[in-house]
Amino acid sequence: MSVKILLLGANGIVGTDIQKKLNKVYQVESYTHNELDITNSNLIESKIRELTPNLVINSAAYTNVEKAETDQIHCYEVNTNAVKNLAEICYLYNSTLIHLSTDYIYDGVRDYPYTEDDIGNPINIYGDSKNKADDYIQSCKCNSVILRTSWVYGDSGKNFVKSVLDRAKMNDELKIVCDQYGVPTSSNFLAEIIDKHLVKHCMKMSHNPYKNIFNICSSGYTTWFNFAEEIIKYASKFDPKYKIDVIPIQSDHYNTVAKRPSYTVLSNKKISTYFDINIQNWEYYLGFFLDSYIK
Ligand SMILES: NC(=O)c1ccc[n+]([C@@H]2O[C@H](COP(=O)([O-])OP(=O)(O)OC[C@H]3O[C@@H](n4cnc5c(N)ncnc54)[C@H](OP(=O)(O)O)[C@@H]3O)[C@@H](O)[C@H]2O)c1
Repeated sequence: MSVKILLLGANGIVGTDIQKKLNKVYQVESYTHNELDITNSNLIESKIRELTPNLVINSAAYTNVEKAETDQIHCYEVNTNAVKNLAEICYLYNSTLIHLSTDYIYDGVRDYPYTEDDIGNPINIYGDSKNKADDYIQSCKCNSVILRTSWVYGDSGKNFVKSVLDRAKMNDELKIVCDQYGVPTSSNFLAEIIDKHLVKHCMKMSHNPYKNIFNICSSGYTTWFNFAEEIIKYASKFDPKYKIDVIPIQSDHYNTVAKRPSYTVLSNKKISTYFDINIQNWEYYLGFFLDSYIK
């Protein structure tokens, strides 16, 4: 199948793995922030006009949750306004938009998993900027798939797994919040689902008006504290230098500018049923990642 894909935000955690996977199979034009700024709608339009991609995958985003509170205009420019323009341009040139979204669109006041039908009610600027984009995409006439994911880690970019390992190597004491629940997700797993299922699916649906939302994350759930403990437990099996104490703390003892939702567990039932995928627990993907990352 000859499929042309435009990938935006290509050197982020998720973008890097999507690029690695899709490059092997499809014709992918990838752009980093430096190469193509998604807030420049003229440039985006001329790129899409020139390439006429079947699919546009947007993994570009303003992802600094803390900084977003004091840098609101910039955050909304990237996460909301640019995405609104992108959706309209995709409609104009008949490209399907695959857009990455987040568990942080939820307020986290409940204690059972969020499904794709649940309405967002964000409690911080980053979450609000992403939620508004999801709403725009849903109301735009372009064909689109929104992929909501959570607690992503991978080889590239800054992420929790790499920070925990770095701190452990320096023998730092680790105090980690134990009252926020979510689902760790490997960017490699995410990219694999896009590669094996979503690209073909979007191509099959591209001749009709089509909109969908999928949560995409591992199975099970945990707290940041347990997540850190599991990283240390696994890593120190390979190398004792990673063995450090992880101390649980409550969120109100951890000073942050942005409020964090305390429960953002996503249900992955829809995507696993839709594509008949057996999604493993988060510990499985973490082990798989650490096996190659640490060695
Ligand atoms: N990481 C998570 O835990 C997590 C959880 C849920 C959902 N998500 C979603 O997953 C998607 C991918 O995020 P990620 O985890 O890969 O984060 P990331 O590593 O921060 O990647 C985001 C990428 O977007 C780029 N970018 C920022 N502003 C841009 C702009 N104006 N134009 C073009 N590119 C721009 C960044 O480039 P620079 O770094 O050079 O600015 C970076 O390469 C995002 O939609 C995010 O909301 C992530």
